[in-house]
Amino acid sequence: MKLNNKVAIVTGSAMGIGKAIARHLGREGASVVLNGRDPVRLSRTCYQLLEEGLDVSACVGDISNIEDCRKLVAHAISQYGRLDILINNAGVSHKGFFKDTLPGVFRESVEINILGTMFLTREALPGILASKGQILFISSLAGLRGFPFHSLYCLTKMAQTALAESLRSELIDQGVHVGIIYVGITKNDPAKRVIFSDGTPMRLPERNHSFAASPERVAGAVLQALERKRFKSVVGWHGMFYSLFARFAPRVMDFAFRRNTDFIVKQNIEETALVHRELS
Ligand SMILES: NC(=O)c1ccc[n+]([C@@H]2O[C@H](COP(=O)([O-])OP(=O)(O)OC[C@H]3O[C@@H](n4cnc5c(N)ncnc54)[C@H](OP(=O)(O)O)[C@@H]3O)[C@@H](O)[C@H]2O)c1
Repeated sequence: MKLNNKVAIVTGSAMGIGKAIARHLGREGASVVLNGRDPVRLSRTCYQLLEEGLDVSACVGDISNIEDCRKLVAHAISQYGRLDILINNAGVSHKGFFKDTLPGVFRESVEINILGTMFLTREALPGILASKGQILFISSLAGLRGFPFHSLYCLTKMAQTALAESLRSELIDQGVHVGIIYVGITKNDPAKRVIFSDGTPMRLPERNHSFAASPERVAGAVLQALERKRFKSVVGWHGMFYSLFARFAPRVMDFAFRRNTDFIVKQNIEETALVHRELS
């Protein structure tokens, strides 16, 4: 796919999936605005991609802050004169039972995953409309069916589906493509944090499961969705399997989740406890 003269914003692109998406867009010729809250991590990524010969620039900002969203769009327009692609990738993931989750944790997840995505999409719309551009949401398989220990994450990712579906109907006749990608478990950056019910951020060890997709695989799916103007895509065979179950056998899925709640909790706690043992 050739993206010469196209300008993209990729939120949360200092590491992980967002960084891989930014790199793939850049390799196809796009000018990419990188974004994240931590200035040190963001500038490190920016230098790395510049050294790879890609046309990128960095704009520090928190998408849950409307002023930062305005600055991010203004940065793209002032630097490159246009905006063609918005990839809504930045997000936080939360683990824990609903009953144990503190209100502040509800607020943080909703502010970043839902409100932040809405704020930035709204600010970017004039530019995207002018270029008849594209907006993609990076969702999760958690956005297809709710499951135990992840209610907050599922809720915020399902909200992205509602937004994508509505926006698609509103914008399709104005030449704007809207798409959403459901991503399964993906190999993570060692600095990735997840939030537990009490608000404690926990570092995830690097996932090495054979079924974990690579960030590059997700970035490949993003390029395909942009090229083919797909509305909904899932990543990999296990994503396809999961989405078929969610669609055609949701009660079987619910039964399996119910039967395996203890296993799901144990896996999630062990995954993060491993790092804490390493640190202590
Ligand atoms: N990894 C997976 O297994 C997986 C699976 C399904 C879906 N996803 C989705 O894919 C997306 C990326 O996941 P990931 O695993 O690559 O995440 P990650 O490694 O935790 O990286 C998240 C990025 O977003 C930035 N970020 C977080 N909050 C932000 C905010 N409020 N404003 C601006 N930037 C923010 C982070 O940088 P700063 O902290 O410096 O801001 C970081 O660059 C998320 O939407 C996630 O839900 C991931």
